[in-house]
Amino acid sequence: MLAGKHILLIIGGGIAAYKSLELIRRLQDQGARVTPVLTRAGAEFVTPLSVSALAGTAVHQELFDLTSEAEMGHIQLSRSADLLVVAPATADLMAKMAQGSANDLASTLLLATDTPALLAPAMNVRMWEHPATQRNLETLKKDGLSFIGPNDGSMACGEFGPGRMAEPEEILAAIAARLADGPLKGKRILVTSGPTHEPIDPVRYIANRSSGAQGAAVARALRDLGAEVVFITGPAAVRPPEGVQVVPVESAREMEAAVQAALPADAGVFAAAVADWRVASASDRKLKKSKDGLPVLEFAENPDILKTVSQMKAGRPGLVVGFAAETNDVIENATAKRKRKGCDWIVANDVSPATGIMGGSENAVILISDEGAEEWPRMGKDEVARRLADRIAAALAG
Ligand code: CTP
Repeated sequence: MLAGKHILLIIGGGIAAYKSLELIRRLQDQGARVTPVLTRAGAEFVTPLSVSALAGTAVHQELFDLTSEAEMGHIQLSRSADLLVVAPATADLMAKMAQGSANDLASTLLLATDTPALLAPAMNVRMWEHPATQRNLETLKKDGLSFIGPNDGSMACGEFGPGRMAEPEEILAAIAARLADGPLKGKRILVTSGPTHEPIDPVRYIANRSSGAQGAAVARALRDLGAEVVFITGPAAVRPPEGVQVVPVESAREMEAAVQAALPADAGVFAAAVADWRVASASDRKLKKSKDGLPVLEFAENPDILKTVSQMKAGRPGLVVGFAAETNDVIENATAKRKRKGCDWIVANDVSPATGIMGGSENAVILISDEGAEEWPRMGKDEVARRLADRIAAALAG
């Protein structure tokens, strides 16, 4: 999968550094050559000896190392790689990169190249959530860097939340996706997926039956064609694909904010079953039974994410694809929906219960575009996704 590829792996100083040893192994199993760089803090967690023994080559540690300066030079080191991978990417390394600081070997390598870089952040949850880190994250994304993780989970420091480094196999999939030589290489595509949950009170919500299967399949198919995929998902039943940037959200309003934050993009695929309404004033306390009668819920309209993005004056993705779930008059309704929302294509399907499509593994869709309505035969959701991804690749190439 990665035969002939050269990865420069920068190991930062975090407890997750031990996972990077496993990553070296996995990369080599896939045929990649790994040149390891260990920061000073990284060397507190894993030894240079174990890193170089696994990589089968010397580990680079110092900015001013006379031997390697004479042999290769640190600038050459980063430019000869196909991809720079920073794992773990600590809060400090991210801050340095966001600032453009170059005061050690790792930060100098990262600054002295335009080779693409992938970061796998790992840090304490508070550090991750700190506005400074979040600011740096935004800056680095704008600079074109890709991220994998961090995941939610219990951490070595005893806290729980986002901050755990992605697992080696997830990082490997992200690397493979980043280096894939498909027709969508270099294209950034955002995909919304799954249902949204609209809170009634802290323990209750309104939801729908979307499993998120079709959206996840589309994200996977786009990734397989080499796209950099930002996958914005509500609480779905299916696992998100590996090798894509996953942004978990709950409500429609959170989904809209995540979509706006993920722009600009070359294309957007809006496969989420977004709730049209939310409870106007969700209670911040649990609603209690009362002798005064039943609670009355008032609804407010949610933002229409597809419509907003389709009608953006500046920064609209070149191709905007919506989905339409209909139970009757599928072509008429979906054609009208495409006009109303202003998207380029609508993937329409009949979700009336007799079809078994909602929550099932198959789909029968009609692609509606400027060229009219094109009916696809009933097929697996993965196959629908692959066909759609091929169409997107053709449209973005043309
Ligand atoms: N969509 C969205 N934001 C919303 C509602 C829908 O982005 N608040 C997107 C969906 O992701 C999908 C498309 O719009 O791509 C169609 O959604 P649908 O719910 O079928 O359309 P509606 O506008 O709600 O039309 P109707 O309720 O009349 O079927």
